[in-house]
Amino acid sequence: MLFSQGTVSEQSSDPATGTQANVISYTEELRIPPLAVNTSNEEGIAKFSLIAGEGETEFYPGVFTETIGYNGALLGPTLKVFKGERVEITVENTLSEATTLHWHGMHLPAEFDGGPYQVLEAGGSWFPQFTIDQQAATLWYHPHLMGKTAEQVYQGLAGLVIIEDEISQALPIPKEYGVDDIPLVFQDRRFFRDGTFDYKPLMPDVMMGYFGNTMLVNGSVSPTFPVVKSITRFRVLNGSNSTVMRYSLSDGKVFHQIASDGGFLTAPIPMWQIILSPGERAELLIDFSDGESGSMVVETNGGATYTGVIFDTEQMEPVPNEIPAALVDIPEPDTSAVTGVRQFVMSTGMGGNFTINGNKMDISRVDEHVPVNEYEIWEVVNAGMGMMNIPHSFHIHDGQFRALDVNGRDPDDTMKGWKDTFLLWPGDTIRILVRFEEYTGKYMYHCHLLEHEDSGMMGVFEVVE
Ligand code: C2O
Ligand code: CU
Ligand code: CU
Repeated sequence: MLFSQGTVSEQSSDPATGTQANVISYTEELRIPPLAVNTSNEEGIAKFSLIAGEGETEFYPGVFTETIGYNGALLGPTLKVFKGERVEITVENTLSEATTLHWHGMHLPAEFDGGPYQVLEAGGSWFPQFTIDQQAATLWYHPHLMGKTAEQVYQGLAGLVIIEDEISQALPIPKEYGVDDIPLVFQDRRFFRDGTFDYKPLMPDVMMGYFGNTMLVNGSVSPTFPVVKSITRFRVLNGSNSTVMRYSLSDGKVFHQIASDGGFLTAPIPMWQIILSPGERAELLIDFSDGESGSMVVETNGGATYTGVIFDTEQMEPVPNEIPAALVDIPEPDTSAVTGVRQFVMSTGMGGNFTINGNKMDISRVDEHVPVNEYEIWEVVNAGMGMMNIPHSFHIHDGQFRALDVNGRDPDDTMKGWKDTFLLWPGDTIRILVRFEEYTGKYMYHCHLLEHEDSGMMGVFEVVE
């Protein structure tokens, strides 16, 4: 797959946005989202508090930008939880408008999914609770209010969830959060000259993507990360609204992917670039033992190239680390028990008419009734033409799934693990093996390009007995 397939030639014509950010040289140290404080003293139970509220963020020295965040002005703390643990969260909304809080990638009861049904009014609270019933992975949380997801994520609401399990703790890989296990949330933002990044999409932005002029990593502008261990693990989230990103190292060095959306791969995959669409995650190991500093470069399907993170190896301890040869066992997807096949055709009509199977999202309609605990094949099609070059990112709630094939061919190794979000370039067809276990109720599937989602490219499936 060529990245240039997704390249669009024109950016928004809004003159106020300019392109000056591509030359901004101000850098700072990478912010690391703090770990959320677990206030439970009971074994097997974790309690967290998340408060959505307004604030200001100094992205540039002396310039304060209005933002929103959880427990702070921007983004949110990282929740670290363990497989088998019961998690109870108090979510408070101190914003002046409603929101929701969705657990992206989590297998959980529908009532706690935090999708558009679980509206959290301004001033209100919500108490989701569920038991972690999936393997170690990097998930995330973000708002999911009908028609408002894009704007609320854009202004700063998003955070990570790290699930650990016995395997992740036993593997010989870096695992000290903030030291050699580093989250990297990539989000491009369009700063105006006065330092604001108000969300003002025009029709081309909704269609092609709301591309920024600045790359934020954990809310820092092209920051520096002081490398302390010669092999460092990075949990990369494409947390942008609608920008497909390709990550590589400035010196072209090979790195290894060890996990995708839903957890570890069978073995580290050596690669020199990785493409993530909005919502997708990848865990990478980068070996700095050559002493090279360099940076992580981010190219977008909007045609921009950013210095994502600058690596500073001055303080590095040359620990003799190794990239493990194997990670976890993942069974081959078994289609012998499939009981149903569904098709999801993602189309972009004129004037931003975004549909799945010809329908725009209607919260009062159930689009698909899916039997609980049964295997199904979902065939997802990006019906767009190459001329339009509009990618989609198909995301399914309530857990992790397996790609069976992409355009009739075996998926790339990077797609062979557990996934909840799938990039489709125009014309692509992906077949996925799904199974919704245990819980019944209403969940969503949608395009994770948030402007598309908010324009109706979303549907409801109800898991039924
Ligand atoms: Cu990350 Cu339904 O979303
Ligand atoms: Cu989700
Ligand atoms: Cu889309």
